[in-house]
Amino acid sequence: MKRRTFLVGASAVAAAVAAPWVVASIDRRRIDDVRILPVQPRRAAVIFFSQTGHTRRVGRLIARHWERQGLEAVASDYRAFDLGTLRTFDLLVLGSPVNYYEAPGHFRTWIKSLPPLGGIPVAAFATFGGKGGNQFNAAAGLLQRMVDRGAVPVGIELFGNMSSFAPTWSLGNEERILAYSHLPDANTWTAVRKFADDLLGRVGSGTGIAVSGGWSPHELIKGSISIEGTKFLIGAHGVDAAACVRCGSCFDVCPVGAIDPATLTVDTAACVACLGCVNNCPTGAMRMNFLGKPVYGFKEFLKRHSIVIAEPPELV
Ligand SMILES: Cc1cc2nc3c(=O)[nH]c(=O)nc-3n(C[C@H](O)[C@H](O)[C@H](O)COP(=O)(O)O)c2cc1C
Ligand code: SF4
Ligand code: SF4
Repeated sequence: MKRRTFLVGASAVAAAVAAPWVVASIDRRRIDDVRILPVQPRRAAVIFFSQTGHTRRVGRLIARHWERQGLEAVASDYRAFDLGTLRTFDLLVLGSPVNYYEAPGHFRTWIKSLPPLGGIPVAAFATFGGKGGNQFNAAAGLLQRMVDRGAVPVGIELFGNMSSFAPTWSLGNEERILAYSHLPDANTWTAVRKFADDLLGRVGSGTGIAVSGGWSPHELIKGSISIEGTKFLIGAHGVDAAACVRCGSCFDVCPVGAIDPATLTVDTAACVACLGCVNNCPTGAMRMNFLGKPVYGFKEFLKRHSIVIAEPPELV
């Protein structure tokens, strides 16, 4: 199988001190240590996109864990993050759900628009649902974009949980989601804390990473191809004004501003089928059909199956 190298220690700092290395293995993925300049981080930011809370929870836990170790740590949705403060951090972590086999396009575009990152150590994590697909490449893609902005990669991780892809259960395939209803659990939080600790250890000891991802068939259908395919199967996407309580959740969560709060209409051409509006509507007023069947959201799915996601103790 042909191997594809995502990250090649492209930043100036890494290049200056990295030992020469060659990727020759045919593993589907590989993480190699690369020497970088050691830093003792004091201010760290965890910046994420999250629609149903999985990624937010992981991001907040990383920041809280670091706070307990004396760091100043910020956890923020990328849309609320004050870009003016970016260069005041000496460690950055980006987190994203895997949507359609990669990180969502709007988040990737935001990363691309960042000012030069000038050698800041960075890490990426992705949350994904069920067995998922292409998760490693999705997280590696986040890291690559930060490396392209001049950052130094120091970590990458994946955290699996219950998927929030609403058509799955709405079409009657509940078991596929319920098989993972125990996740995230205490082991997930242990893995998150370990990830946070490892990052501090790596940055402090001057150990960065070089990442290689393998080819996956999902690379052929990721992103817009899958989004357009899903949109083709979606119908009747709009607000039932009678059931709507004007809570604003759908406007807030829509990453592309496709919902007009004044008219309660959805611009289906602009919609990227992220399902955030359906998943977060508290009353079921956000309507959508998939293959002709009504779709119901993640909140309702949790309620129907009496699932309560266990919060990590640090966040309670
Ligand atoms: C529209 C959509 C597409 C998704 N596509 C994938 C995917 O391609 N691979 C995967 O592993 N999980 C996929 N998932 C599951 C999410 O990645 C998973 O539920 C994630 O943890 C949600 O994060 P959040 O709660 O922070 O939004 C998808 C979920 C949605 C809503
Ligand atoms: S309107 Fe489309 S893009 Fe906006 S939240 Fe709903 S599904 Fe996502
Ligand atoms: S989330 Fe639901 S109830 Fe809230 S404004 Fe949107 S459609 Fe109305």
